[in-house]
Amino acid sequence: MNISKRPRRLRGNDILRKMTRETHLKKEDFVYPLFVQEGNGIKTEIKSMPGQFRYSIDSLVEECSELIEIGIDKIMLFGIPADKDDKGSQASSMDGIIQKAVRILKKVYRDKIYIITDVCLCEYTSHGHCGIIDDKGRVRNDETVDILSEIALTHAKAGADMIAPSDMMDGRIGQIRTNLDLAGYQDIPIMAYSAKYASSFYGPFRDAADSAPAFGDRKAYQMDPGNIREAVKEVELDIHEGADIVMVKPALSYLDVVSKIKQETNIPVAAYNVSGEYAMLKMAVENGIMSLDVINETLLSIKRAGADIIITYFAKEFALKSK
Ligand code: PBG
Repeated sequence: MNISKRPRRLRGNDILRKMTRETHLKKEDFVYPLFVQEGNGIKTEIKSMPGQFRYSIDSLVEECSELIEIGIDKIMLFGIPADKDDKGSQASSMDGIIQKAVRILKKVYRDKIYIITDVCLCEYTSHGHCGIIDDKGRVRNDETVDILSEIALTHAKAGADMIAPSDMMDGRIGQIRTNLDLAGYQDIPIMAYSAKYASSFYGPFRDAADSAPAFGDRKAYQMDPGNIREAVKEVELDIHEGADIVMVKPALSYLDVVSKIKQETNIPVAAYNVSGEYAMLKMAVENGIMSLDVINETLLSIKRAGADIIITYFAKEFALKSK
């Protein structure tokens, strides 16, 4: 053949392939989500998420020591309260599970670990919705935003390093920002779950956090999976209201959205590789259906699409493997 261009020339051996590789994963890219509950000495595996656990605070402290050692120093905390009610009162209690966990982790590890707290009501409400319900079963936006900004403030007071609202109410970023600023927490960044879709990929998480809605679904506040221009709108609003980082969630079925948001903004973009995406791959690997390499390939695809930050249950595994 008379061809001068031969792309295969650069694929000849591993050194050459590494030299010309465009995207690299590093431990610093990852945020590791963790579930914390009341009790002592508890580390219970989540059935639908093999390798992930619900920790009591003491076990969480232990786990974090290992994480810090292997270089996973950013965690995102989800709380499972002992009691739930229709207003999710435990979420904004200074003695709530998250507030206690953050206080203790910060006391033990100080700046060795960076704690991002998820701000939402669904784990705390008896009905499992992300806000206050009216008599027709709809989530009341403005009243919910008031509560969310209270929750965010208690997290900041407990010592959280960053606040991540995941509720998808309108106007919550602005009000949370104002509330934090008024109380003197101007330096606490907000990572907004901006383009959060109404996705079936959250199934295992709802099992882990016991937060599946008791009736209906979340389609009246989370985004429709068919939309991408609306993701740009949500992101623009959140940036306008004061978000420091914007997030796309889930990641894998929404890589086009990650890519678009990366192009349209100039602040860091996070992607959440959610529970269902984790479960799917983990179970395929455990059952010998695909090789372990599929995990790396998947995380790489999220980064290649444009994510600066990847929130993933694979973070620890990645760090252990690359040690
Ligand atoms: C709380 C919240 C959810 C997730 C993160 N924050 C659940 C939901 O919206 O139903 C999902 C995370 C995952 O699936 O890994 N609103």
